[in-house]
Amino acid sequence: MTPHVTELPCMKQFRLVDGCLALGGRPVTELAREAGGTPFYAYDRGMLDARLAELRGCLPRAVHLHYAVKANPMPAVVEYMAERVDGLDVASAAELELALNTGTSPGDISFAGPGKRDGELAAALQAGIVINLESFGEMERVHRLAEAAGQPARVAVRVNPDFELKSSGMRMGGGSRPFGVDAEQVPELLQRIGDYGLSFQGFQIFAGSQNLSTEALTAAQDGIFELAYRLAEQAPGPVKLLNVGGGLGIPYFPNDRPLDLNVVTDHLAGHVETCARRLGDARVVLELGRYLVGEAGVYVARVIDRKVSRGRVYLVTDGGMHHHLAASGNLGQVIRKNYPVAVATRMTEAETGKASIVGPLCTPLDILAEQIDVPAAEPGDLIAVFQSGAYGLSASPVGFLGQPMAAELLV
Ligand SMILES: Cc1ncc(COP(=O)(O)O)c(C=O)c1O
Repeated sequence: MTPHVTELPCMKQFRLVDGCLALGGRPVTELAREAGGTPFYAYDRGMLDARLAELRGCLPRAVHLHYAVKANPMPAVVEYMAERVDGLDVASAAELELALNTGTSPGDISFAGPGKRDGELAAALQAGIVINLESFGEMERVHRLAEAAGQPARVAVRVNPDFELKSSGMRMGGGSRPFGVDAEQVPELLQRIGDYGLSFQGFQIFAGSQNLSTEALTAAQDGIFELAYRLAEQAPGPVKLLNVGGGLGIPYFPNDRPLDLNVVTDHLAGHVETCARRLGDARVVLELGRYLVGEAGVYVARVIDRKVSRGRVYLVTDGGMHHHLAASGNLGQVIRKNYPVAVATRMTEAETGKASIVGPLCTPLDILAEQIDVPAAEPGDLIAVFQSGAYGLSASPVGFLGQPMAAELLV
């Protein structure tokens, strides 16, 4: 049997030290000590840099790259990314504070999300960031709060497009959605923005997330730019900002193929040229979360028990769904599939059989990997879940069953 390291393409991006998975040249056994124990998440700066360099290498220069903080709000990661991207997108007052703490200029921070509370809107107004309006009601509240505080309101309209992003892991536009304002209602909203004298910045058109299909992504770009041109005709002022979303996906499962980035960025380049002719100085923003940070992170847990139940081997770890809901299959998966998982302390050892890797919670949902080929792992070994840099700890029910919190390291 071949060592399992050869099976999963994403693992090839990591180095090994004496057969142990390493990040930043340091084996996870050493990182576990630095983290004060297991479980922990570790994010690799070198891999973040590599992804940014790859993107910058093929994105048109005119495109501004924003980081969606929701993907990984660890403060050190946000700070690291903020120094290397052109702006940040936040989804709450807490994320806004993180973003402001990085020193990012308020004009390069945008705030999207349905259900922004008055306190959050007030904080956004106070900071002078761009508020992506998601409804008529939200616009009314922004207007009222801005008047009361005597502050100008920088607003963009988040548009729920009249088309869908096909092949998307998570569709967030098209049809009936809680996100954004339906494209056909936007002209009326624009009129009111003008009547109220809000400072109109432009549009955010975010169609979906986790897409690995270049056909679908380029078709979405076509729809987004066309829609923006149509809506711009009704805008109360020039479009200064056109946030075209992103949605670039990363491969998680055996049949996922990594995105052919050049196809997406070349297509975007064509649109950016046309956009410069049609919308003048509008700044085109590509807003990415997962694609920037997802592959750079691993979640590491320690095997605390090995048991056999009616012929099946279980490796029970000290980590699980409470830290990594997505890997457990409970964050949007319909049919559970295994994330790429390996025994990090035995990366070059041949597999000896199948095992399921489960967490410490007393629920059948707490699974990190089901029936995967593993080497002869024992209590004390470390398990790594790859592709864990985005929507990991912050997207998990960390209070469930009173388990300790996971540490996070940027290495
Ligand atoms: C408005 C907005 N921006 C950005 C993102 C980040 O998407 P991704 O992490 O897939 O790039 C999302 C995801 O839900 C979103 O809703």
